[in-house]
Amino acid sequence: MDKHLYFGSNLKMYKSIKETVTYLKNLCALTANISRETMTLFILPSFLSLQDASNNIDDRLCHIGAQNMAWAKEGQYTGEVSPKMLQEIGINFAMVGHSERRNIFHETDLEENQKVKMGLSCGMTVLLCVGETKQQKELGVARETIRKQLLIGLHGLNEFNITGKLLIAYEPVWSIGAEGTPASSEYAELMHSEIKSCLEELFGSRGHAIPCLYGGSVNLVNASDLIVQRDIDGLYVGRSAWDADKFNDLIRRTISAYRKFIL
Ligand code: PGA
Repeated sequence: MDKHLYFGSNLKMYKSIKETVTYLKNLCALTANISRETMTLFILPSFLSLQDASNNIDDRLCHIGAQNMAWAKEGQYTGEVSPKMLQEIGINFAMVGHSERRNIFHETDLEENQKVKMGLSCGMTVLLCVGETKQQKELGVARETIRKQLLIGLHGLNEFNITGKLLIAYEPVWSIGAEGTPASSEYAELMHSEIKSCLEELFGSRGHAIPCLYGGSVNLVNASDLIVQRDIDGLYVGRSAWDADKFNDLIRRTISAYRKFIL
């Protein structure tokens, strides 16, 4: 089956505004001749870089999104950034529930749910991240954890709210960052098929069609094995994407591995 492929990166709290714009311009130039009919590319820079990024980058080549957002349009929420404010500068894409938000900043599934609902009601595209910790995996509750994150995170939505507007990233917490161990492609597929069946329970066939990306220590070596898995629609890349040349190389090699696989 020929699937549309997704490649994205969260720049976390790295890169200055200037570095972000240079990186994005390079990435767009390098990947410009890859057809966007078969591939979607998105990058999530810091809040402060969003305005310059969106002014300088052609959205048809690369979607620019926020790494987080508030669950209210406005109010007494010191230090927060609302979806309305993001939209004012042309940003219509936001991630919620990254494991660093959940684990370092103690965000709960209920808060992620409020953010998902608020983003979608404002007409934004939302990327919801889910993933179990090392301890949850060792205790044998990885699937239960993911299901809970999806069931609460997507509570109150229906197949019409989400169509074309929701993406899921599965990022096992133990696989993220320099200390992380990448998940094997078999394990990642097992969890992705659990995610797809949970989404199907929630939203029927439209749920099954929600793009699900794998993230956590994706690199040049494991990217091809991951992308050929049935339920993995894309790769969510951290460190291996932060150099435009290397990310371009990873994207091209992954697409060509996938093309060979489906021949
Ligand atoms: P990593 O980051 O690829 O550097 O492990 C993944 C992420 O946090 O999205």
